[in-house]
Amino acid sequence: MKSQSASIASILMTALMLFAPPVSASVQGPCSNCHTMHNSQDGADMVPGAKGVQQTLLNDDCVGCHTNNGTATIVDMGNGDRVPIVFNTVQPTYPPNGSASSVLAGGNFYWVAQNGGDAMGHNVYGISEADSVLSGPAWTFFAPGHSTSCSPCHDTLATESSGCKGCHYPRHHARDTAEVVEAAGGWYRFLGALPAMMANPALYGVKGIEEEDWEQNPSAGKHNGYFGTSAVYDKELFMTRYSIGQFCCGCHGNFHHEMNSDQPVDYAGAWLRHPSDVVIPDSGEYAAYTDYNPLAPVAKTDLAGRKNYSGVDLGQDVVTCISCHRPHGSPYPDMLRWDYDTCVAGTESAECGCFVCHTTKDD
Ligand code: HEC
Ligand code: HEC
Ligand code: HEC
Ligand code: HEC
Ligand code: HEC
Ligand code: HEC
Ligand code: HEC
Repeated sequence: MKSQSASIASILMTALMLFAPPVSASVQGPCSNCHTMHNSQDGADMVPGAKGVQQTLLNDDCVGCHTNNGTATIVDMGNGDRVPIVFNTVQPTYPPNGSASSVLAGGNFYWVAQNGGDAMGHNVYGISEADSVLSGPAWTFFAPGHSTSCSPCHDTLATESSGCKGCHYPRHHARDTAEVVEAAGGWYRFLGALPAMMANPALYGVKGIEEEDWEQNPSAGKHNGYFGTSAVYDKELFMTRYSIGQFCCGCHGNFHHEMNSDQPVDYAGAWLRHPSDVVIPDSGEYAAYTDYNPLAPVAKTDLAGRKNYSGVDLGQDVVTCISCHRPHGSPYPDMLRWDYDTCVAGTESAECGCFVCHTTKDD
C-alpha cells in the first residue's frame, strides 16, 4: 500500500509539473540582455539613438523595449525573457484571437499613434503628442492646468516625466509567482502607488491574477483576474481599495465619485454615470451572465482560488472601468473594447459588449 501511494504521488507530481504554468513572469535572462554598464563598448555607444544614458543602466527605455516594428505582440528575447508588446507600429489583430499578432489585455497604442487617433488611446510620451481635443482627463477633481508639478500625469501623459511611468511603477525583478499578485510581486502589472505622489508602493497598489500570456489568447477559462470592490468610496490619495477601478479614478475621479445621486452615502439613488466598482445583481437581465467573457470582463471582490475561473459570481462580482475600456488603446473611440456602433437594440450582435451584461437588450 505504501509503495502504491508513493507511486501515485510521483505520478501526481509529474502531472503537476507537466501542467505547471510557465515559470515566473519576472525577468530572468543574462543582465547584458537589458543592462549596459557604461553605455560604451569599443569606444562606441551601445544604445544607438538613446537620449543620453538610461536610468538603472538599461539599454533601452520603456517604449523602446515594449515596442515591436512587426505584428507580434510577445517578443522572445531568448533565455526565457518574453517582452509583452504594447505598441506595434504595424496593425495588430483586434480583438485578440490567439494569433501571435493578437493585442494583449491592455490594448495597444497602435491606433492612438495614427494621425487623428487621439481618442483611441491614452496619449503617452514617446508614442504620441498631447491629445488635440482633451486638455485633461475629461473629468477630475483638478481643473486642467491646476499645478505644474501635478500636470504631468493628471493633465497629460505626453511629457517626459509622465508617460508609461505616469501609471506604472515598474518592478521587473520582483517575483510575481503568487496566485494573487500584491506588493511583493510588484503589484498587478506594476500598478503600484507612485513615489512621485508621496505614496508608498510597499503599501498601496492594484491586486490581481496575472495570466501568463497577458491575454493574447483569452477565453472563459484563461484570463486575468481583476480586483474590484463593492465598498462605497470617495476620493482618497492612496489606493486603499486595491481595485483597478480606483486606479483609473485617481485621474478620472468624478466618473466614480459622482455616479449615483445618493453618493457619498450609498448607491441606492439614481445612476448619473454608468456604475463602476458596483455589484452585478444576481437578478433580472444580469442573471444570464454566467460564463466569464473577456470581451466585457468583471472584477472580483474576492480573488482567492479564482485563477482562470470560468464562472461569474453574480451578486458579488462588479462592473468596472475596464469592463468597457482598454487602458492603452483600441481601434475604437474612447478606447472602448468593442465597436459601440454595433450596439443596436434587438440585433443580438456578438461583437457588442453591452449585451454581455444587459442580456435582454439584444432581444
Ligand atoms: C529582460 C530584461 C532584464 C534583465 C535580463 C535584467 N534586468 Fe535588471 N532591470 C530591468 C529593468 C526593465 C529594470 C528597471 C525597472 C524596474 O526596476 O523594474 C531593471 C532594474 C534593475 C536594478 C535596479 C532595481 C532593482 O530591482 O534593484 C538592478 C540592480 C538590476 N536591474 C540588476 C540586474 C542584474 C544584476 C541582472 C542580471 C542578473 C539583471 N538586472 C537582468 C530589466 C532586466
Ligand atoms: C530592457 C527591456 C525593458 C525595459 C527597458 C522595460 N521593460 Fe518592461 N518588461 C520587459 C520584459 C522582458 C518584461 C516581461 C517580464 C516581466 O513580466 O517582468 C516586462 C514586463 C513589463 C510589464 C508587465 C509586468 C507583468 O506583470 O506582466 C510592465 C507593466 C512593464 N514591463 C512596464 C515597463 C515600464 C513602465 C518601463 C519603463 C519604466 C519598462 N517596462 C521598461 C522588458 C523591459
Ligand atoms: C495618471 C493619470 C491617468 C490614469 C491613472 C488614467 N487616465 Fe485616462 N486619461 C488621462 C488623461 C491625461 C487623459 C486625456 C488625454 C489623453 O487622452 O491621453 C485621459 C483620457 C482617457 C480617456 C479618453 C480618451 C480620449 O482621448 O478620448 C479614456 C476613455 C480614459 N482616459 C480611460 C481610462 C481608464 C479606463 C483608466 C484606468 C485603466 C485610466 N483612464 C487611467 C489620465 C489618466
Ligand atoms: C507621476 C504621475 C503623477 C503625478 C506627478 C501626480 N499624480 Fe496624482 N495620481 C497619479 C496616479 C497614477 C493616480 C492613481 C493611482 C493612485 O491613486 O495612486 C493618482 C491619484 C491621485 C489622487 C487620488 C484621487 C482619487 O480620487 O482617488 C489624488 C488626490 C492625486 N493623485 C493628487 C495629486 C497631486 C495633488 C499631485 C501634485 C502634487 C499629483 N497627484 C501628482 C499619478 C500622478
Ligand atoms: C493610463 C495608465 C497607463 C499608461 C499610461 C500605461 N499603462 Fe500599461 N497598463 C495599464 C493597465 C491598467 C494595465 C493592465 C491591463 C489589463 O490587465 O487589463 C497595463 C498593462 C501593461 C502591460 C502588460 C501587458 C498588457 O497589455 O496587459 C505592459 C507590458 C504595460 N502595461 C506597459 C506599458 C508601457 C510600456 C507604457 C508606456 C508606453 C504603458 N504601459 C502605459 C495602465 C497604463
Ligand atoms: C459600461 C461601459 C463603461 C464603463 C463601465 C466605463 N465607461 Fe468610460 N466610456 C464608456 C463609453 C461608451 C464612453 C463614450 C462616451 C459616452 O457614452 O458617454 C466612455 C467615455 C469615457 C471617457 C471619455 C470622456 C470624454 O469626455 O471624452 C473617459 C475618460 C472614461 N470613459 C473613463 C472611464 C472611467 C475612469 C471609468 C471607471 C470609473 C469608466 N470610464 C467606466 C463606457 C464605459
Ligand atoms: C460588466 C457588466 C456590464 C457591462 C459590460 C455594461 N453594463 Fe450597464 N450596468 C451594469 C450594472 C451592474 C448596472 C447597475 C445595475 C443596478 O442598478 O444594480 C448597469 C447599469 C446600466 C444603466 C443604468 C440603468 C438604470 O437603471 O439606471 C444603463 C443605461 C447601462 N447600464 C447601459 C450600458 C451600456 C450602453 C453598456 C455598453 C456600453 C453597458 N451598460 C455595459 C453592468 C454592465
